[in-house]
Amino acid sequence: MTSTPHRQSSAVLDVPKPPDLSWHVQARLPVDYEVVITRGLLSEGNGVLARACGSDATAPTRCLVVIDQTVAGLYGDALQAYFSAWRIEPVWKLVRGDEGAKTLAHAVEITEAMTEMGILRRTEKVVAVGGGVVMDIAGLAASLYRRGVPYIRIPTTLMGQIDAGIGVKTGINHGQHKNRLGTYCAPEATLIDPEFLFTQDQRHVTNGVAEIVKMALVKDAALFELLERSIRGLDAETLASCGPDAREILSRAIAGMLHELEPNLWEGELERAVDFGHTFSPALELRADPPLLHGEAVAVDMAVSLALAHNRGMLSTPDAERALTLMRSAGLPLTHPTFTVELLARALEDTVKHRDGLQRVPLTQGIGTVEFVNDVSAEELARAVAFVAERVISEVPPAAASAPAPAGQMRAIGEEFSDSEHVA
Ligand SMILES: NC(=O)c1ccc[n+]([C@@H]2O[C@H](COP(=O)([O-])OP(=O)(O)OC[C@H]3O[C@@H](n4cnc5c(N)ncnc54)[C@H](O)[C@@H]3O)[C@@H](O)[C@H]2O)c1
Ligand SMILES: [Zn+2]
Repeated sequence: MTSTPHRQSSAVLDVPKPPDLSWHVQARLPVDYEVVITRGLLSEGNGVLARACGSDATAPTRCLVVIDQTVAGLYGDALQAYFSAWRIEPVWKLVRGDEGAKTLAHAVEITEAMTEMGILRRTEKVVAVGGGVVMDIAGLAASLYRRGVPYIRIPTTLMGQIDAGIGVKTGINHGQHKNRLGTYCAPEATLIDPEFLFTQDQRHVTNGVAEIVKMALVKDAALFELLERSIRGLDAETLASCGPDAREILSRAIAGMLHELEPNLWEGELERAVDFGHTFSPALELRADPPLLHGEAVAVDMAVSLALAHNRGMLSTPDAERALTLMRSAGLPLTHPTFTVELLARALEDTVKHRDGLQRVPLTQGIGTVEFVNDVSAEELARAVAFVAERVISEVPPAAASAPAPAGQMRAIGEEFSDSEHVA
């Protein structure tokens, strides 16, 4: 704290003299957390989780485990055995892990579990175990409880491991808006074990792959090429087994994301490369009928954004085709009936508010870099939508268009989705 120097009887109090009664408060908030990939996180010989919980097995320690109920069904016994071996006494709080659970009521419920447990404010940790939904609501609860208690993240989905679990954002959906309420609150550590992915279904793996494709498009051409070579075999088992390609894909995606986040943790800078695919998708994600997962909505947004870049001459036709082909090969949707030009325009209006009055739309300048533009017009959006639609239609043989898409293949317009109008 600084103020106009003025001698008072107190040696320590620095009180400004009228009429300049003003104080300037300045402080810095240190952020210091680790993101660790560790295989066999729940093996008793692996001390990473125990250390994060403050246990060295010599004395009992408690923690509050906020866990997705599906994940508890799959890994609850292994977690309990691990905690017993390390003399950690967990208090379990099972929560739903679907998008509908991202409500204030669910976050508050978690804070109530902290009160019931009588959690110690600094030494007893909240341990969030689950996908992006649990990362978001448990993180929000931890940041609200007594204005912030320490927590540890154990993301168990691909989306959680390469995105939702490694940054500092928490949040819930509110009033038809994605992540409208939330905080920035760093965990003490994020512990990533790819082996959790063994039990992920393919749709959710593909959902996470969307964010990896995003990182490749905005900052890592080598990752893009690696994905082109390996995308067809990129399933839960391949990722969970962590062979050389899978390891490189995971670590490049995480490193790229952290490299973007670290200098801009509180988003003082609103031109964010990682927002590629997140300009129009928030509106789509909550309105899509049939519903879309986060990464699927991001993929549909990325397809339009690639088309915008192409039509502006920022991305060559072959590179635009390569990017769309990669997404299609990953099994990601490129279009959705809810994604009308009208919805795009309205989504952009809301995004302009989120980005403080400017569009700041990240568009690919070639593969591996982005530029930000502020003058996307409705007419341009219509041409971009048409560009993607033409490609999707032209690449689906007539016989295949009426058949359900096999797992791992592209969804075309109207193929899996109804023609329902979007509801604002
Ligand atoms: N805070 C951020 O920076 C950030 C970043 C990206 C995404 N998100 C948010 O993350 C959410 C999406 O996260 P998600 O894709 O992980 O979905 P999710 O958390 O809904 O999990 C998907 C499904 O997988 C199940 N599951 C979790 N782990 C499993 C496992 N190992 N085996 C089997 N099933 C498992 C869950 O029960 C759930 O049914 C969205 O709400 C999105 O907004 C947040
Ligand atoms: Zn995202």
